[in-house]
Amino acid sequence: MIQTFQHNRALVFDSGVGGLSVVEEIRKHLPDVSLDYVADDVFRPYGEKTVEALLERLPALISTLDIMLQPDVIIVACNTASTTALAAMREQVKTPIIGVVPAIKPAAEMSLTQKIAVLGTPGTVRRRYVDDLIERFASDCHVKLVGSLELVNLAERKLSGETIMLSDIQNETRRIFSNVDDQDIDIVVLACTHFPLLREEFEKIAGDSVRWIDSGFAIARRVEQVLSDVDRKAREVYPETAFLIGPDTHEKRAKAFRSFGFEKVVGLMP
Ligand code: DGL
Repeated sequence: MIQTFQHNRALVFDSGVGGLSVVEEIRKHLPDVSLDYVADDVFRPYGEKTVEALLERLPALISTLDIMLQPDVIIVACNTASTTALAAMREQVKTPIIGVVPAIKPAAEMSLTQKIAVLGTPGTVRRRYVDDLIERFASDCHVKLVGSLELVNLAERKLSGETIMLSDIQNETRRIFSNVDDQDIDIVVLACTHFPLLREEFEKIAGDSVRWIDSGFAIARRVEQVLSDVDRKAREVYPETAFLIGPDTHEKRAKAFRSFGFEKVVGLMP
């Protein structure tokens, strides 16, 4: 059935479950927007890939997904992809694309100690894009950059229903505060969408002296702005679906996607 009158539909894209932290914010603030989700599991982790490899994969993949799903807006809910390939992806499709900007500006504004940390994937914290944000918005702050792939892995495992050890997370977060100068860091920018999925654990480890901030709400607000400006596309009506590229569709993982409102979870073979 083709309907021309229906809710806006957005595509949320990430290398894995990380984009679900963005989905949560969109669901909370824009409950009338229908969502599809694509997890590029076979190519994860993005955080260890070269710029060239990401540029080779992402624009073509986004273009295919745009043709396949006809979304009104595409949300690249991945810092690593956004800080590397946003312009190249935008060149491939007419559909508006919203990327993630690490919350460095609000962190610098919020910090009482003027000491902040940016916790992302190793790829993201190396990017020029992040240096530029620091130069523009946090030049008066001490900024510690910390890259972790292990936290991506731990977030994936948590959402697959595995019990994860607080001590494994602590081994990673310890690196944020490792130098004397870092002791009074009071804001940590979660510059990887997987990391808000571990917020509870981070807060348990660090207590009240540190705030862990992300870009989820800012993205939801941007989605609202962009959708108010686009014409809804006519498309077939089907349940909100999570498409997982690769074989990782086992029941416990599918259950996590369903708990974020995706009625159907299907595997896409690459
Ligand atoms: N969730 C992603 C990000 O925001 C990437 C994780 C990965 O695949 O390395 O950077």
